[in-house]
Amino acid sequence: MTTGKVAVGLTIRAADPASDAEVRRMFGRLHGFNASLDHRFALAEGWEAVLDAHLSRERREGNGVTWLADWDGDPAGMLIVAGHADSPLYLDRHWAEVLALYVEPEYRGLGVGQALAAEAASWATTHGYDRLQLHVTAANAAAQSFYARSGFRLVQEIWRLDLAATFRSPPADNACEGTYARGEGLLGGQAHEVD
Ligand SMILES: CC(C)(COP(=O)(O)OP(=O)(O)OC[C@H]1O[C@@H](n2cnc3c(N)ncnc32)[C@H](O)[C@@H]1OP(=O)(O)O)[C@@H](O)C(=O)NCCC(=O)NCCS
Repeated sequence: MTTGKVAVGLTIRAADPASDAEVRRMFGRLHGFNASLDHRFALAEGWEAVLDAHLSRERREGNGVTWLADWDGDPAGMLIVAGHADSPLYLDRHWAEVLALYVEPEYRGLGVGQALAAEAASWATTHGYDRLQLHVTAANAAAQSFYARSGFRLVQEIWRLDLAATFRSPPADNACEGTYARGEGLLGGQAHEVD
């Protein structure tokens, strides 16, 4: 579906199964870049299946959307946005989340990212959310400038104490892992129970 031209040469369209390979390609590049800034963001083997499950659920349930930006017909950028709910502990607990935003290097600085961010804000407003949030790596100064320029402001930070130099994870919690297999929580965290 084409939602309309927003600048000369630029078209934003919702991704469909025929364009999923494009979404996967750009998602992989985005995370390759993120992992170059922070190795903890390296994608796991089989990540494509997790992304595919997310895209299927998104289309089935309408709780999010993925857009592709084309520049003169060439794939130039990608955005994934979805609804997010915090614990019922909080009064103000629903927000829309930018799960992925990526513009191909040769199309940067042309307004593609800003056009995609505007689509995300519009989707969030239409679906009843009063805020749009995202996580950005501390070392990604360019993205921070981009978000500041696009009207976002910093509201929280993640602080980390590394406890081991090499990769390590606690025993599996199947109840927790099963939610991802169903396409829930592409990036979102879950409580992970360990004995
Ligand atoms: C961040 C990113 C999405 C920006 O996309 P883009 O299409 O180049 O951005 P735009 O052309 O729409 O720029 C919008 C504004 O942000 C600013 N901006 C964009 N890239 C910038 C950069 N590298 N440094 C400083 N400011 C930048 C622009 O100056 C512009 O402001 P202006 O209108 O005053 O000129 C793109 O650089 C990208 O894909 N980066 C790699 C992946 C990434 O970091 N994604 C976000 C992870 S959270």
